[in-house]
Amino acid sequence: MEEEGKNKIIIAIDGFSSTGKSTIAKQLAKQLNYIYVDTGAMYRAVTYFALENELIGESFFHEEELINRLPEIHITFKFNEELGFAEVYLNGENIEKSIRTLEVSRYVSLVSAVSEVRQKLVEQQQIMGKDKGIVMDGRDIGTVVFPKAELKIFMVASAETRAQRRYKELLERGHNLSYDDVLENVTTRDRIDSTREDSPLVKAEDALEIDNSDLTIESQLDKLLKLAQEMI
Ligand code: DC
Repeated sequence: MEEEGKNKIIIAIDGFSSTGKSTIAKQLAKQLNYIYVDTGAMYRAVTYFALENELIGESFFHEEELINRLPEIHITFKFNEELGFAEVYLNGENIEKSIRTLEVSRYVSLVSAVSEVRQKLVEQQQIMGKDKGIVMDGRDIGTVVFPKAELKIFMVASAETRAQRRYKELLERGHNLSYDDVLENVTTRDRIDSTREDSPLVKAEDALEIDNSDLTIESQLDKLLKLAQEMI
């Protein structure tokens, strides 16, 4: 068993929203028999909590109260055999679907700019990766959470390509919205995520950049699998 653990690595996948990080990360983890962690889901879970408790809204953000209530927030993941990935739970409630709305997307960048929120989630993420054998996607995985990750990928794609993808995804899930709203959300989040003071979205120096605007999922997966196997 020890021998097995020795060869396991940490794969950090960072990048802008809707670059297809999670699709690739999920499949990569499956092929390698690794754990996959979607850290965006964790920031979304805290945002969902804030919305449910009326701590954030159109013209207000009770940041201090959210900070004080952080100990009430317990985020867990549970593997769903049917779906083939782990769904996110907030205090025992499956919130996988509820966190993928445009409403949560609207507020998540504000919530994730709060240092106390980041501290709590980063700590939990580091514990999840302590035995390696993990693929984690997010914004600060290769820079803050696992600066020593063996393989770091930074995914980029044009804002229009990303908004198209997200728009299609939301429509398929039955949400009624306009492409312009989605594009607006994507560019606003890019701006807030990359300019916040704590752990802004930046490419780690040793990360490999992949622009997947015109790449198929299969070709990206192929490339990443080869890279991972070389490291392992
Ligand atoms: O990956 P996503 O779009 O579901 O992430 C939602 C938001 O969470 C994103 O706009 C910024 C924030 N986030 C973060 O600040 N750090 C991470 N490691 C992951 C996500």
